[in-house]
Amino acid sequence: MSMREKLARLEELRREAEQGGGPERIAAQHERGKLSARERLDLLLDADSFVELDRFVTHRATEFGLASQKILGDGVVTGYGTIHGRLVYAFSQDFTVFGGSLSEAHAEKIVKLQDLALKNGAPIIGLNDSGGARIQEGVVSLGGYADIFLRNTQASGVIPQISVILGPCAGGAVYSPAITDFVYMVRGTSYMFVTGPNVVKTVTHEDIDMEGLGGADVHASKSGVAHFAYDSEPECLAAVRTLVAYLPQNNTEKAPAGGSHDPADRREEAILDVVPDNPNQPYDMHEVIRRVVDDGVFYEVHAGFAPNILVGFAHLGGHSVGIVANQPAFLAGVLDIDSSVKGARFVRFCDAFNIPLVVFEDVPGFLPGVAQEHGGIIRHGAKLLYAFSEATVPKVTVITRKAYGGAYDVMNSKHIRGDVNLAWPTAEIAVMGPKGAVEVLFRKEIATADDPAAATEARIQEYRERFAHPYEAAARGFVDDVIDPRETRPRLVSALDMLRNKRDENPVRKHGNVPL
Ligand code: HXC
Repeated sequence: MSMREKLARLEELRREAEQGGGPERIAAQHERGKLSARERLDLLLDADSFVELDRFVTHRATEFGLASQKILGDGVVTGYGTIHGRLVYAFSQDFTVFGGSLSEAHAEKIVKLQDLALKNGAPIIGLNDSGGARIQEGVVSLGGYADIFLRNTQASGVIPQISVILGPCAGGAVYSPAITDFVYMVRGTSYMFVTGPNVVKTVTHEDIDMEGLGGADVHASKSGVAHFAYDSEPECLAAVRTLVAYLPQNNTEKAPAGGSHDPADRREEAILDVVPDNPNQPYDMHEVIRRVVDDGVFYEVHAGFAPNILVGFAHLGGHSVGIVANQPAFLAGVLDIDSSVKGARFVRFCDAFNIPLVVFEDVPGFLPGVAQEHGGIIRHGAKLLYAFSEATVPKVTVITRKAYGGAYDVMNSKHIRGDVNLAWPTAEIAVMGPKGAVEVLFRKEIATADDPAAATEARIQEYRERFAHPYEAAARGFVDDVIDPRETRPRLVSALDMLRNKRDENPVRKHGNVPL
């Protein structure tokens, strides 16, 4: 065969590989509102940047007629490319090939990519659309999953790992995304569950469909498994591209600077109107965040889950920062089980990847209740405390209003290595809120008073004047300054500039024992 004939053969094989399971199956995929594996990569990566690996790999199984059904690529497209010009590795499972199921060879392709990503220190993004373990391959396929899980674990905290669920993801297969840092889902077409609706029906007699059991909204709001839910694949993949802009390539680098020209000394008058005069009136902490960060852009993570705490990324004076904020507009911003877990995971991600933490605090305490106590609020609340305590990245806090009780300590206080702790004049920093404190301290006096309501009010007023302000904490240096809210942005940018080369260490140990 001449060179030209060999080239023609190569071209033919390449085209064959790009067909996946064939035009009919790709059309069926489109009919379901799903894109093909390659169309997804096109949307995820910069134009023409994708370089494919292992396109000629095929499965090795021969049983159940598989010997005659070899398909080039074996149900997953793997390779590398760029997002905003920066290297990322990506794999995209192809549902048109044996339902995207994971064979030994399919797993080996993903494992090869994981090894490359870890060695070369760049993020890895998995686009999942798979019927799970390739049934015909039995334990070899299970082994393939375990090989992937091991590498997910080894890469954790070293390179960012992102999972995008764009079809079924069931059984043990869910545990690869679960170990990764961020999980994206699409409403109506993606599902995650350990056991599907049929098994649930058999075992617990509960009737539920796929969307209700493990759809995007369920995981983004109830279980917390997913960090993001979108209505369509293009929106979802665009959002992944945005996330990557806030992240460093690996744990030895810093995140790239944002490109905004928003002046560092911008002071917004309107910020003075955000916190209501009545301390019991809620307000939306988004209003504070948006007025402070570059161009008002807050990339919120886990927006639908535990909304009493807000977490997400922003740029501040160009610094990529992780924001953790109590949300008074939901449950008064209390810390409960879900918000503690949500906050802790985010803080640990930022700490692992050198992303400074900026905390906006307005927290009345931990949520009281039998369900919370029996659900383990002690154990779960400890996660957030532990996460802030162990974090060595620059850590800055702004107390906008309440900082009560244990929650004051937890929310990146000076005592757990907060670097710069600022308070607005509206801050109230004390062991507990005025009403609760007065009921404990003056119970007998109030019970025997001629006018208990008036006696309570008088004592509340007295307590407010004595404790419900930031100056006691400032007198001790527990807050570094009490600031005009309009100075928040300039002061935060200045703090982040000042802390740019911060060095801090934890004791040498194998690893801590975070209260899981
Ligand atoms: C081999 C599979 C497959 C699998 C689907 N296919 N899943 N082939 N192994 N796991 C094939 C189908 O036979 C079919 O081939 C094609 O893919 C498309 O599948 P359909 O069933 O027609 O598609 P759909 O109706 O959309 O249903 C999708 C599905 C269903 C819900 C994912 O296919 C399904 O329930 N599959 C099995 C899921 C499962 O139980 N997997 C194992 C989970 S346990 P043809 O040629 O007919 O078109 C697991 C363990 C992981 O994964 C271990 C980690 C520790």
